[in-house]
Amino acid sequence: MKKRGFFITFEGVDGTGKTTHAERLAADLTAAGHETLLLREPGGTSIGEQIRQILLTREHQTMTGISELFLFAAARSQLVREVIRPALERGVYVICDRFIDSTVAYQGYGRGLDVDFVRRVNEAAVGETKPDLTIWIDIDLEALAKRLGKRTKNNQSDRLDLEPMAFRGKVRAGYQEIQASEPERVFRVVSMPDKNDTYEQIIQCVRREIL
Ligand code: TMP
Repeated sequence: MKKRGFFITFEGVDGTGKTTHAERLAADLTAAGHETLLLREPGGTSIGEQIRQILLTREHQTMTGISELFLFAAARSQLVREVIRPALERGVYVICDRFIDSTVAYQGYGRGLDVDFVRRVNEAAVGETKPDLTIWIDIDLEALAKRLGKRTKNNQSDRLDLEPMAFRGKVRAGYQEIQASEPERVFRVVSMPDKNDTYEQIIQCVRREIL
């Protein structure tokens, strides 16, 4: 069946506040009368939530990049088939906190796996179900270090949060490449000290596309 909804994804290195912005956008779209579904990756299905535990638990320090790639892809395949595709076919606005670009940026550019291979694995997981719009929240690494420092002190960090700042630099460079290659789909938002200023950029972009 042909897709009728609209699919928005949020992307960026950890600590940009993307989850908060995704929640706010979902609330605003709902208030505007659109049936809206907010999801997060990895997760969103029973299988996906279990895979999330395996991926993010701090104990799994020996996990290889290839294992990460396939586990993220497995969780995504479940989410697309069980939730995203049926919702889009019903006309729902689907917002997903991370999607295919995270895998290209983290496992491809971050871990150094072959980027074309990562893209092919993504294709196998999602088929035709690609985002209509991707909001990439970008932040400079100095500001990010301050925010992540606070999180680590609060002991909220997961396995990937423990990666060094150099890893985040590679991931960020990955997002820059993705945005440069697909500027029509991927919209760069600069993370501002006041999160309302960041959100203003996001809502303006979404309004241009769908409201
Ligand atoms: P979260 O902190 O946004 O919930 O994301 C969980 C972590 O998983 C985050 O560090 C990014 C990472 N990740 C990947 O490395 N590859 C992926 O494909 C996805 C979806 C997330």
